[in-house]
Amino acid sequence: MGFQKFPDGFLWGAATAAYQIEGAWDEDGKGPSIWDDFSHTPGKIRNGDTGDVACDHYHRCPEDIALMKELGLQAYRFSISWPRVMPEGIGKVNEAGVDFYSRLVDGLLEEGIEPTPTLYHWDLPSALERRGGWPNPDCAAWFANYAELMFSRLGDRVKRWITLNEPVVVASGYMGTEMAPGRGAPADGLLAGHSLLVGHGLAVQRLRALHPENEIGITLDFWPSYPATDSAEDAAAGHRMTEALGWFPDPIFLGDYPAVMREAHGNALPQFGEAETEAVTQPLDFLGLNNYSRHVVKHDPKAGPYQAAILPPQGPVTAMNWEIYPHSLRDLLLWVNERAHPKVIYVTENGAAFDDRVDADGRVRDEGRRQYVRDCLSGVHEAIAGGVPVRGYFVWSLLDNFEWAQGYAMRFGIVRVDYETMARLPKESARWYSETIRANGFDPDQ
Ligand code: NOJ
Repeated sequence: MGFQKFPDGFLWGAATAAYQIEGAWDEDGKGPSIWDDFSHTPGKIRNGDTGDVACDHYHRCPEDIALMKELGLQAYRFSISWPRVMPEGIGKVNEAGVDFYSRLVDGLLEEGIEPTPTLYHWDLPSALERRGGWPNPDCAAWFANYAELMFSRLGDRVKRWITLNEPVVVASGYMGTEMAPGRGAPADGLLAGHSLLVGHGLAVQRLRALHPENEIGITLDFWPSYPATDSAEDAAAGHRMTEALGWFPDPIFLGDYPAVMREAHGNALPQFGEAETEAVTQPLDFLGLNNYSRHVVKHDPKAGPYQAAILPPQGPVTAMNWEIYPHSLRDLLLWVNERAHPKVIYVTENGAAFDDRVDADGRVRDEGRRQYVRDCLSGVHEAIAGGVPVRGYFVWSLLDNFEWAQGYAMRFGIVRVDYETMARLPKESARWYSETIRANGFDPDQ
């Protein structure tokens, strides 16, 4: 195929999230989050792991910035822990928490790395969960006030903001029991989704008022659906599942929930009031996309709200038991571009968990991860050639970290973390990624 060069100015980064790496869960005035509560509840997380210490990034921040510099990263996507800066979620500001992020931003800028914070990566202040959490419509305004605090403190230096990370997963924490807060209440998930959309929109409005020169977007995750067979029934099931992916992008880019959701959920799905629509449809500077795999689906009248059963992985899998299917990222980029016409797209997460091992010579030869990232990036290259405005890519993740319900059992990092010593060890995939950044491209056959 030959060397695949990316457009000039293509932004190469890596991503993490506060709860997954910071630790220091109750230090310097931080309040608890729903993930602290959830991980402290016996039986919720594999091996009883918690984010209490995680990668100890809170104390090792300078060292981690130096590591990013060494790898040649041009941008770093991290998240801000809401209860670290506002322990109760509303009201009192914890200045020590704000200072931590301020120092992080300054440290990154000193090394020429663009800070790209996400305001909400799942760690809702526990105090707000006690007031009803995201299903409470007030949560949208609570979020906007917190967002405004961060814009006012960091907006002179941060140029690119992400409101929410994967709101589908946030809502699923209310619908199901595997992610915090784990309520197992499907109707609450739809209400949560609604507040998340409104909160996102209000935050965009606040940034426009405070720092119109800054950019803002949202990060959405998608597992594209492919029909299991050529039958008309399976094709229709695939189509319904694809339409349902519009849960978050459609209100933002098209003005309402997809019809397939209204049919499936009826009155349980809230309507947008006029002011809500105004907020939710605020034009965005970019759309962030996360992708890890796909779903193959089959018509099944008894399966879920869309009469579509998700089949087991159709081929080789990662440690997460997710099918290794790099084409899904390219297909997703084409689909989103066609449906939503975002001005700019950043791939804000993509990567894979494998059971890495350290060889006797001290190297981690994570060829599976390297090939997966390489093949996904080939798809990004193809999408760009096809006219999709992808302007950057953030690998998930910079570091091995706390993988939610899976705890530390799943390693997604391009850098290994030894959880005994906290030592960081770049894997072979990190070396390859550095070289790719330096050359602004790679040979897909190598
Ligand atoms: C998406 C989430 O944003 C991130 O927190 C998680 O670790 C990765 N997917 C891998 O599951």
